[in-house]
Amino acid sequence: MAVSPSERGMWNSKLGFVLAAAGSAVGLGNIWRFPSEVAENGGAVFVLIYLACCFLIGYPVMVAELTIGRKTRRNPYGAFRALSSNPIYGLIGLWGILCGVGILAFYNVVAGWTFSSMFSEIFLAAGNTELAEYFANTGDGTKNAIFSAVFMVVTVFVVAGGVSAGIEKVAKTLMPVLVVMLLVLIGVVITREGAGTGLAEYLKPDFSELSVGLIFQAMGQAFFSLSLGMGALITYGSYLQSRQDIPEAAVYVTFADVGIAFIAGLLIIPSMYVAQNVGIEIFDEGGALIASDTLVFNVLPALFHTMGGLGVFFGVSFFLLLTFAALTSTISLLEVPTAFLVDETKLNRKTSAAVMGAIILVISIVTSYDLSWIGRLNLIFSDIGLPLGGLLISLFLVYVWRTSNALKEIDNGSDSSLFIQVWPALVQYVAPLLIAIVLGTTLYNVFA
Ligand code: PHE
Repeated sequence: MAVSPSERGMWNSKLGFVLAAAGSAVGLGNIWRFPSEVAENGGAVFVLIYLACCFLIGYPVMVAELTIGRKTRRNPYGAFRALSSNPIYGLIGLWGILCGVGILAFYNVVAGWTFSSMFSEIFLAAGNTELAEYFANTGDGTKNAIFSAVFMVVTVFVVAGGVSAGIEKVAKTLMPVLVVMLLVLIGVVITREGAGTGLAEYLKPDFSELSVGLIFQAMGQAFFSLSLGMGALITYGSYLQSRQDIPEAAVYVTFADVGIAFIAGLLIIPSMYVAQNVGIEIFDEGGALIASDTLVFNVLPALFHTMGGLGVFFGVSFFLLLTFAALTSTISLLEVPTAFLVDETKLNRKTSAAVMGAIILVISIVTSYDLSWIGRLNLIFSDIGLPLGGLLISLFLVYVWRTSNALKEIDNGSDSSLFIQVWPALVQYVAPLLIAIVLGTTLYNVFA
């Protein structure tokens, strides 16, 4: 089904695109997952490997996705169909869309937690401990389902509003607010007692922690955090104006994402040690740092509650910040399957967004009641699914569409000779090889 570019939508400005793509990238991955993985994986070594993955693997794949998107002006499925006469390659796009559905299904539940935790902080400040406990309880299936439904409705609403009037507008408003809030919160925490120990843990690498498992996690985190491997950036690239500088835009988006993850670590890891200083348990029975959902949803609130009036401000702002970050990401996750329906069926944007939102919400509701699904969906669709998708996307670009054709498309708007010297080697050899080795070894370890 041929849909004209004007019907599909387009970004209004370069800044708008960069903020929307950065909004997709910056999310729970940066503020919830990244610091937890750092805490779980020996601090600074993880940070270093993560940075290497972002620049050596993430950046080249991001340019590949944006270029495929702008060239074809299609959703991931349509894009691979347009660039090759062999329909089999459409499967790469379909896999990406499926990953989007699978990730949004659990992401939405965690996003709901951030939103309900904000209410918990408000009720606590108002002295209603009963309601505060209700909203803070991540184990209450019905509460989880309600909040994940609320989150989905807001997401559908924005996506239905269109590319520039919906997605771009929301990103332009929320992204600057998010950065300011993050910086203010760091300012509050970093001067407290204990923060220095946390900073050292975060910034001093201990190379004895290095393992294939750690590299696999860092690579998965890089894909997840940069929103790569499932065609979110093929889709966002398909709304780019034709003469925009793709390599440069990708640099901005990568730095924004990596920068915010790093800064979020500066907030959260020191916060844990400040918490320890006031008597909150931050190590589990095995002596490891408490991580994942417990860290952000239990340890940090416990810390806020020791801070008096400042704690209320801190708690509400922190969860509002997470909510904003999550929203600009759920928008991009829903945009991928929505664009698929818009391009490939007769449904219009509003109906497509609503239909996809409803389907995904059903899986979110199941997940709300049985949280073990978060781990399963995350393993299949993000930890394995995204690097696999990234591998297939780069192999497709290099061997089917050809790097020279991609460079011709990139040439519209970009004249960087450094890029032309470096990117082809990264996308042809470095990225696919590294992904294949890390993914292959891990799968071997899991199944052998
Ligand atoms: N990058 C988002 C985050 O860090 C999650 C995401 C993954 C969004 C894949 C879109 C696609 O939270």
